[in-house]
Amino acid sequence: LRIAVLFGGRSAEHEVSVLSATNVMRALEPAKYDALPIFVTREGKWLLSRFEGGALATPSGGTEVCLVPGGHGRMLAVPAEGAPYALPDIDILFPVLHGLHGEDGAVQGLAEVAQVPLAGCGILGSATALDKDIAKRLLKAAGLPVARSVTIEEGSAPSLAVLGDQLGLPLFVKPARQGSSVGVAKVNASQEFDRALAEAFQHDRKLLAEEFVRGREIEFSVLEDPAGKLFVSRPGEIVPAESHGFYNYNAKYIDENGAALIVPAELPREVEQAMRDMAARAFRAVGCDGMARVDFFLMPDMTFLINELNTIPGFTDISMYAKAMAASGVSYPEVIDRLVAHGLA
Ligand code: DAL
Ligand code: MG
Repeated sequence: LRIAVLFGGRSAEHEVSVLSATNVMRALEPAKYDALPIFVTREGKWLLSRFEGGALATPSGGTEVCLVPGGHGRMLAVPAEGAPYALPDIDILFPVLHGLHGEDGAVQGLAEVAQVPLAGCGILGSATALDKDIAKRLLKAAGLPVARSVTIEEGSAPSLAVLGDQLGLPLFVKPARQGSSVGVAKVNASQEFDRALAEAFQHDRKLLAEEFVRGREIEFSVLEDPAGKLFVSRPGEIVPAESHGFYNYNAKYIDENGAALIVPAELPREVEQAMRDMAARAFRAVGCDGMARVDFFLMPDMTFLINELNTIPGFTDISMYAKAMAASGVSYPEVIDRLVAHGLA
């Protein structure tokens, strides 16, 4: 089975994607998969990559590739010099891209246009889940609990005093369409607020001011089978190191001791079950299919709310999606097999 693995990409999570895809490539068994890694540059070019010595090449130039519309997996290579040529057809496209232009429905739409099977979540769920403002509206409409928030468009930010009255302090400022906590800040005072807005607006035209929820961070991996039945994993818990203040980018990827992942998380059985049920409902409410990681906050009184859904969750070796699946009896290679089976169905 020929599988094209797209990685890198135009989003701020470019480097995270390279880490994720490296792990995916390592897990693709050569006996089963003929993998074609395609590096998406920060500018958005698709370049032929190679997987050698356990690492993915991230070239700055070379042979461009494209997926032919209506081609059912036809791929063309366009070398820097010389004539374009056909590559062997692919059977499935696996975008291992995080954030905008990859996890947001764009590439999923391209697969649709190319009429090629896609591993993971489709257009609608990808687009809605990536936009925290839209996702929250859908979750609320389905009667599911989320943190209180105010959506801020460029040029229309309320003062911190007004937001503080509504949401309490500290509060979080986050870009609506970003992942890995890029551009996210915890805000206590006006000065910090101005800086947080300026920083977050670097990443998106739409922001969320969100109440600070003092809860445990509990996450579930959801995987759909070819018949449409949802598998929800055991819970995983993220315990960020005190020094980071919250589970930010550094705690996620830079600092080896930035956070502890506890899998399975210790929860009363009935709480775990209620959260798993809600993870499945959230997955449906947002319009997801295929795969997503559903992230919760669990309060000391054992009530909980949904933080967000990630349709292409981190696949690095310190990532929760695979760990929670492993704790539920599904190995990393098996996750990929199931994603592929879902995509081909
Ligand atoms: N956005 C990162 C990759 C995650 O949710 O795991
Ligand atoms: Mg996210």
